[in-house]
Amino acid sequence: MPDSENPATPVTFPPAFLWGAATSAYQIEGAVREDGRTPSIWDTFSRTPGKTEGGDTGDIAVDHYHRYREDVALMAELGLDAYRFSVSWSRVQPTGRGPAIQKGLDFYRRLVDELLSKGIKPAVTLYHWDLPQELEDAGGWPERDTAHRFAEYARIVGEALGDRVEQWMTLNEPWCSAFLGYASGVHAPGRTDPAASLRAAHHLNLAHGLGASALRSVMPARNQVAVALNSAAVRPLSQDPADLAAARKIDDLASGVFHGPILHGAYPESLYEATAGVTDWDYVLDGDLALINQPLDALGLNYYTPSLVSAADPNTKGPRADGHGASEHSPWPGVDDVAFHQSPGDRTEMGWTVDPTGLHELIMRYTREAPGLPLYITENGAAYDDKIDSDGRVHDPERVAYLHGHLSAVRRAIADGADVRGYFLWSLLDNFEWAYGYGKRFGAVYVDYASLERTPKTSARWYGRAARTGTLPE
Ligand code: NOJ
Repeated sequence: MPDSENPATPVTFPPAFLWGAATSAYQIEGAVREDGRTPSIWDTFSRTPGKTEGGDTGDIAVDHYHRYREDVALMAELGLDAYRFSVSWSRVQPTGRGPAIQKGLDFYRRLVDELLSKGIKPAVTLYHWDLPQELEDAGGWPERDTAHRFAEYARIVGEALGDRVEQWMTLNEPWCSAFLGYASGVHAPGRTDPAASLRAAHHLNLAHGLGASALRSVMPARNQVAVALNSAAVRPLSQDPADLAAARKIDDLASGVFHGPILHGAYPESLYEATAGVTDWDYVLDGDLALINQPLDALGLNYYTPSLVSAADPNTKGPRADGHGASEHSPWPGVDDVAFHQSPGDRTEMGWTVDPTGLHELIMRYTREAPGLPLYITENGAAYDDKIDSDGRVHDPERVAYLHGHLSAVRRAIADGADVRGYFLWSLLDNFEWAYGYGKRFGAVYVDYASLERTPKTSARWYGRAARTGTLPE
C-alpha cells in the first residue's frame, strides 16, 4: 500500500495509465469574434453587468485560439500523455443549427493534428456550457429541440474529427448547466426558474443520448464515447434519519438525476418524490429513457470536494452555502429543508475543503454502480493564490500536495479493484473561472493576464515528472 499509511513506499501507477490535463473552450480560447464565431450564452452573460467578478469576460481569455501551438509545446515539454479540451459550438455551427463553418472546424483539426504530432492523445468534450445564444433565445435547454440541435452538432464534429480523436465526451457537468444556469442563476444564461432547471436536466440527458448515438453513427467503432459528470460525494452530518434523508435528496439532485437515466435508464423514484411540488416531469416522453441509456465506453468523473449536509434547523430553513456561488436562489429545486455545511479541513482559494477520501469514495461508488465501465478522472485540481516570485518562478506547494493526495486516492481505488484508466488535471492553464472571473487560478501553468506569458508552476513540473515516470514524486 502506498501513500499516507506508508510514506516511504512510492505511489506507482499501471503503465497504461493516462496522464492528462483539461481545459474548456470559453475559459481559454478568446477570439470570440473571429472566423465567424457568434455569441454563446457565456458571452452574453459575462457582458451583463454584475454577473462575473470584476465584469470579466472570455473575450481574450488566455488567447489559446492564437497560442495553441505554444500550449501544445508546453504539454509536450511537461510530458503529458493526453489533453482534454472542448469544442465551442458557436465556432463550428454559429446559430446552433444548419451547416458548419469550415474555419471553426479547421481550428480544432489543427489543434488535434498538433497534439498528435507530439504524441499527445486528444480527448474532446462537445459541450462545456457554451450554448449558442440563438438556441437560448429559442428557449435553451428547457426546450426539447435543443437536444436535437445538439445531436446535429455532435454529428458535425464527429464527422470532422472522428478519424483522429478516439476519446469523446458528450457533456461536461450537466448539473452546472441545468441548476447553476437555470435555477440559482449564477451561471449563464442566469435564469432562476426551478421548474425550467429540471426540464433542462432532462433535455441535457436527452442531448447526451442523442449525441452519443449521432457520434457512433459517423465515427469508427474503435472510438470511445463517454460523459463527464460532477456526481457529488454527499455526506450526511450524522446518522440521524433526518440527516440521512437530506443527504439522499441532495444526492438524487446532484447525481441520480443524471446517472440514473444515463447509466440505468430510469430516474430514481425518490427524485420524483423530492421534486413533486416543482414539476410533474410530463416532458419525459415515451422512449426518452431508452434513448438516454446509450451504451457507454467509459465514464468521466470530475471531483473537487465533498458535500456535507443535514436536515435544516426549522428556524434557519433553506439551503445555505453549498460552494456553488452566491445567489438568493437555490440550485436545488424543491429542496427547502436541507442545510449545507463546511467539511472540516484545509480549504482551497475557492473555499472548497481538500478531501481526497471523497474521490476514492466516488470512484468506488461508480465501480459498484457501473461494473465493467472504465473510469477516467476527467477533472480534479485546486485554485490557489499563486504569484510570480522575484526569481520568476511560481511556487505552489499546496497544489502539489492537493495533487499528491488525490492521485494517491486514485491509486488506492485502483488497488481496491477500480478500473481507472487516466487522470486529467484541471487545469492546464490559469483561465476564466466562470462567475469568479480570472481571480481564481486553477492552472498548473501560470498565465500573466497582461502579457499572456505562460510560466509552468512547481506543480506543473511535479505533475510532468509523475506523467513521465508513472510514479508520484515525493
Ligand atoms: C468544473 C468545470 O468543468 C470547470 O469548467 C471549472 O473551471 C472547474 N470545475 C473548477 O471550478
